[in-house]
Amino acid sequence: MDHFQYRNGELCAEDVPVRRIAKDVGTPFYCYSTATLRRHYEVFAAAFAGVPATVCYAVKANSNLAVIATLAQLGAGADVVSEGEMRRAIAAGVPPKKIVFSGVGKTRAEITAALDAGIGQFNVESDSELALIAEVAGTMGKRAPVAVRVNPNVDAGSHDKISTGRKHDKFGIAWPKARETYRAAAKLPSVEVVGVAVHIGSQITSVGPFTAAFKFIAGVVGDLRADGHTIRRIDLGGGLGIPYLDETPPSPEEYARAAIREVGHLGCELVLEPGRLLVGNAGILVTEVLHLKDAEGVRIVIVDAGMNDLVRPAMYGARHAIIPVAEAARDATREPADIVGPVCETTDRFAKEWPLAPVRTGDLLAMRSAGAYGSAMSSTYNTRPLVPEVMVNGGDFAVVRPRQSFASMLAGEAMAPWLTPATGLRSKAIR
Ligand code: LLP
Repeated sequence: MDHFQYRNGELCAEDVPVRRIAKDVGTPFYCYSTATLRRHYEVFAAAFAGVPATVCYAVKANSNLAVIATLAQLGAGADVVSEGEMRRAIAAGVPPKKIVFSGVGKTRAEITAALDAGIGQFNVESDSELALIAEVAGTMGKRAPVAVRVNPNVDAGSHDKISTGRKHDKFGIAWPKARETYRAAAKLPSVEVVGVAVHIGSQITSVGPFTAAFKFIAGVVGDLRADGHTIRRIDLGGGLGIPYLDETPPSPEEYARAAIREVGHLGCELVLEPGRLLVGNAGILVTEVLHLKDAEGVRIVIVDAGMNDLVRPAMYGARHAIIPVAEAARDATREPADIVGPVCETTDRFAKEWPLAPVRTGDLLAMRSAGAYGSAMSSTYNTRPLVPEVMVNGGDFAVVRPRQSFASMLAGEAMAPWLTPATGLRSKAIR
């Protein structure tokens, strides 16, 4: 359930008409709903209320400070995969102890910064990384809390590009190989083994793969305990899917039941890393119709958002519902249309043969379910400025990231000295 609904024929974000925001900030823009974020967090957290659990929001899904702060104020920790994400989480008010650092390629600098900040857990993904963490912690006179991410060889059944738990994927360490990693970790004085971690992929729409992974991890915990390790935390990763169009993912309750059934008896604290589930349906991307054309019988609607703003359709063939901001008449004919952006690539297409009521230049459209991996994956390709992000809260809204200016885009670059004539090529003229 989300809080983007029509009221008197106008799409509203909570109590604010989307058109009003568009007037204020221009298009395209992302719009997030506080009430939806809150609801998603609360439903998810409530599903785990009966067991000791920490919800560490996967910041990569949407790393806007206001989004992270909204979730942090509800009690969320953070799952981060870079120093940048860690800095964002801390800046947004996440206590460092509630931060889990995941990812296969942590650098020395990132490990140093994370130890300095005092994060709660490193999820180790290779023996080489364990050695580096131990070395850095040793030099700093610290003890690094680690869990090893174990690869369960489970196919998440989602898109190939976002499945991470198969044995040849780059993620985690296979079992029983990881048993050796634990043995090595136990001998390192600068490392404290705190638990195990698993994550099998994203946008998972059936409970089966989760159950398989959780069952597997319960077995791993048993073996590790038999080897003498203290395992007090189980990080079950993220990945629970959301409805974009007609998907029917398991509910948070169903997901939590599977988790608690498989690992609840082990006396561990659970760590959950949901990303998409919390933010996906809490955001929309609002865009304006620029031009209409007919490509030899194909109705083409050109909008001012492009694949640089929302890359999921181009990258994964993802489908986002696209609706008019001014509600179409009930009896309007919805003819198929290709909805495309201005970027010079054929793949810059948000939808193919999408049923769309008649639209005109200047009309506003909203792409739904764009809160996760939308803005966070955007780029300035074609030198298109990053678009604003707006947060709605009841009847209020705030610009939580303004539109990037052309001046700031150009100011971030410099001429090589041999290109700068004495007169100075970086004159105002090129800005
Ligand atoms: N934990 C780890 C270790 C992860 O790698 C991810 C996502 C998550 C948690 C959060 O997963 P979620 O709950 O959001 O499914 N860009 C793609 C999705 C990539 C997911 C990467 N890892 C997309 O737009 O579909």
